[in-house]
Amino acid sequence: MKALIFGCGSIGAHLSNACVACGVDVLICDISEAAINRFKKDLYPSRYGEMPANIKIVTTKDAREFARSCELILIGTPPDARMKVLRELDCNNNQVILLEKPIVAPGPDLKELKSLVNKNQNTIFVSGYDHVVSPSFLRFQEIIRDLKTANQISQILVNFRESWAGILNAHNWLHGPEDSYLGYSLRGGGALCEHSHGLNAGLIIANLLDNDFINAKAAYSCKRSDSKSPYDCDLFSSVYMKTKEVSLRVEQDVLTSPARKFIRVEQESTTVEWICNNVESKDQIVISKDGRIEIEEFPKTRADDFKYEIEHLKNLLGGKIKAEDSNIEIKKAILTSQIINESLKME
Ligand SMILES: NC(=O)c1ccc[n+]([C@@H]2O[C@H](COP(=O)([O-])OP(=O)(O)OC[C@H]3O[C@@H](n4cnc5c(N)ncnc54)[C@H](O)[C@@H]3O)[C@@H](O)[C@H]2O)c1
Repeated sequence: MKALIFGCGSIGAHLSNACVACGVDVLICDISEAAINRFKKDLYPSRYGEMPANIKIVTTKDAREFARSCELILIGTPPDARMKVLRELDCNNNQVILLEKPIVAPGPDLKELKSLVNKNQNTIFVSGYDHVVSPSFLRFQEIIRDLKTANQISQILVNFRESWAGILNAHNWLHGPEDSYLGYSLRGGGALCEHSHGLNAGLIIANLLDNDFINAKAAYSCKRSDSKSPYDCDLFSSVYMKTKEVSLRVEQDVLTSPARKFIRVEQESTTVEWICNNVESKDQIVISKDGRIEIEEFPKTRADDFKYEIEHLKNLLGGKIKAEDSNIEIKKAILTSQIINESLKME
């Protein structure tokens, strides 16, 4: 199996390593010569050691041709460059095309993406919201599914908070958020877009608890960078949505250190909490029921997050997982981007 990856940046390195670990050969390209050199000499080796022979750098010009023979196409460019790449590709039947998160920059790209997805029904489009295919999240989802009972009121609180410092650790060539899309909400950066793993996962859980949740309207508030800042984005974002049975509050920021990422579901005497990286290299689920506490632990490394994702893509291709059953099926991420657009008043 072969993967073609667009973007030799931070996610390009994670995905290449995961592909190779899962037996998938990699072709990778970038429009920037500097990014290609950094990838080969610094980024990949500093994270994963010597670059294996089955990762090959190709030109963006050749990439379009190679795309026809690759089963996996992984678009790891900045959000505002995603549609440009997709537009220039021929989408093949029985090919998986993954769009990193957020799947597009806020604004009109979403409409174009929806129409492209509709036109190519035999291509499997997925998002890069990798946390929702991790074993810990799938187990959390199973527990929540069992919790679903008629007329129960559920409150969901999502926190996905990590400071610029945490994010920039993975981009040591940047001076600050202003040097990339990260510092600009309208390019797909800022708290709402960069940490949209939280909103996306919260929506999956809310839709599981209430089939009507898809119709809930969003209220949004944020704290923006001030006029003296070298960048222009939301630093803290809060999205609130509610139906008769379920309320969802999602708080994301680029300020909190150490990072704090969790989803808590509360119902009368039961609380179930999924905690991402609660302890170094461990996700946890904490269930508190009638005063008793149970903890389930899921050891993992950062590299594992992406191996779970690539295995998931192989299972989608092989038919072991149906697209409509997958948490990263593009329609779920489209819903997330719709809420992002609505929040930023882009629709
Ligand atoms: N799923 C995750 O946990 C996760 C982790 C990291 C990043 N990401 C996402 O991945 C995307 C990229 O992030 P990053 O940190 O790798 O950014 P980055 O800036 O490190 O790398 C992006 C690279 O894409 C290249 N690029 C731009 N246009 C291109 C094109 N048309 N063709 C080929 N290459 C092109 C840029 O030159 C750059 O080198 C973002 O949307 C980010 O949110 C997701």
